[in-house]
Amino acid sequence: MGSEAKAGHVLVLPFPSQGHINPLLQFSKRLVSKGVRVTLASATSHLNSMQWQVSYTNFDVEPVFDGVDNGGSETIDEYIERFNANIPRSLAELIDKFSRTADPIKCVVYDSALAWVLDVARSSGVAGCPFFTQPFAVNALYYHYLQGVLKFPLEETAVSLPAMPALEFKDLPSLIYERTSHPAICNLILSQFSNIQDVFYIFCNTFSELEHELEVWMASKWPIKPVGPAIPSMFLDKRLDGDRNYGVSFFKPSTDTCLKWLDSKDPKSVVYISFGSMAALGEDQMAEMAWGVKASNFNFIWVVRESELKKLPTNFSEQTSDKGLVVTWSPQLEVLAHDSVGCFITHCGWNSTLEALSLGVPMVAMPVWTDQPTNAKYVTDVWQVGVRVKANEKGTVTKEEIERCIREVMEGDRSSEIRKSSDKWKKLAIEAADEGGSSDKNVEEFVAKLKAFPS
Ligand code: UDX
Repeated sequence: MGSEAKAGHVLVLPFPSQGHINPLLQFSKRLVSKGVRVTLASATSHLNSMQWQVSYTNFDVEPVFDGVDNGGSETIDEYIERFNANIPRSLAELIDKFSRTADPIKCVVYDSALAWVLDVARSSGVAGCPFFTQPFAVNALYYHYLQGVLKFPLEETAVSLPAMPALEFKDLPSLIYERTSHPAICNLILSQFSNIQDVFYIFCNTFSELEHELEVWMASKWPIKPVGPAIPSMFLDKRLDGDRNYGVSFFKPSTDTCLKWLDSKDPKSVVYISFGSMAALGEDQMAEMAWGVKASNFNFIWVVRESELKKLPTNFSEQTSDKGLVVTWSPQLEVLAHDSVGCFITHCGWNSTLEALSLGVPMVAMPVWTDQPTNAKYVTDVWQVGVRVKANEKGTVTKEEIERCIREVMEGDRSSEIRKSSDKWKKLAIEAADEGGSSDKNVEEFVAKLKAFPS
């Protein structure tokens, strides 16, 4: 990309985890398609994956130093602390470097969990726009918690909050009642409201039709705009030419294996199972899942990350080789878009949820932590695109329960209703992203403001 940008130059800073990078990359592509110049600031320890991505797109990547030498074995909480300690200085230097060019940065778009970016941006004389990678519902709950409106332990069995359905304890984001187990993640997420009143614009990876009442409620407080689904154009409105490559992958997908295998199966005959990039099941829970899926007798693709493989029951893959495929990472969007897939057993990470919803794939919701319980509540009770597993008194989801949920989504009357809702939301998701759709208009409005913004 040269310096001939018409609409202005935006620096984008994602937090480098799979579920946070994906939506910001897709949003960046939408900005580029509207004439914005995008430079992606990549944490140095993730630079190789980012540069690989950028070779397929038309934005530049610049390193920002996160302080990691040679990929140590840190926990996510330790990495967050290192990231927050090192990136601010490097980011300020990057903005300063561009300020001495013909095309200085006008605005930094950053993962909303990195609230401190606004201070760096403002002290460098540029605007800041947080990007919420989770839906309105989850962010509203974090806000109510910070305001002391949502308190623990809950006084009633269900809480009633503006523009939301009644929520039980099991529907709330786990981080707000488990603060001590992941202090750094928790502080990061809750800090996103600390300076929100000073931002230029706020983006959210959702779409107006999906969370309309909450959009109205949040927009009455802040300049917040839904711009999702942040999913590659090739799976939605198909307007962005050449959008074949769809994202950075920190894991190697078994693309050919999955797609060839799916090609050999009947339409809507396959159950796809994935728990995203972080969530882990205990060994007993893995066994229940394995035998529940086997008992259902449907075809399946199960993503079991390399680190989780040892938890699979012995000989499970051999015993199910006629019906199933276990891979360590899949090309998830291509899998969900494939005709053979009839159902997705998901942890309800927000990207997976929005991807399935936008591609019309019914879900079995099996949330693990963070925002996932809230997403699961909306999947089942609000958007009605799936069913949620019930755990027993020991907290285990038994094989019988897994089989029951798969059947409910794959066959029978309930399945037909769920498929109807899934088709409806797929259509609305495509319309939101398409030319003149609600999210497209919001991106256009931002770009128009950016153009008018002083350099
Ligand atoms: C994390 C949190 O867990 C999630 O709750 C939060 O909303 C975002 O950050 P993660 O657990 O990885 O993300 O889940 P998710 O949000 O679903 O993101 C996973 C991404 O990896 C999706 O875009 C999905 O398409 C992709 N993926 C997953 C693959 O490409 N292949 C796979 O095999 C599995």
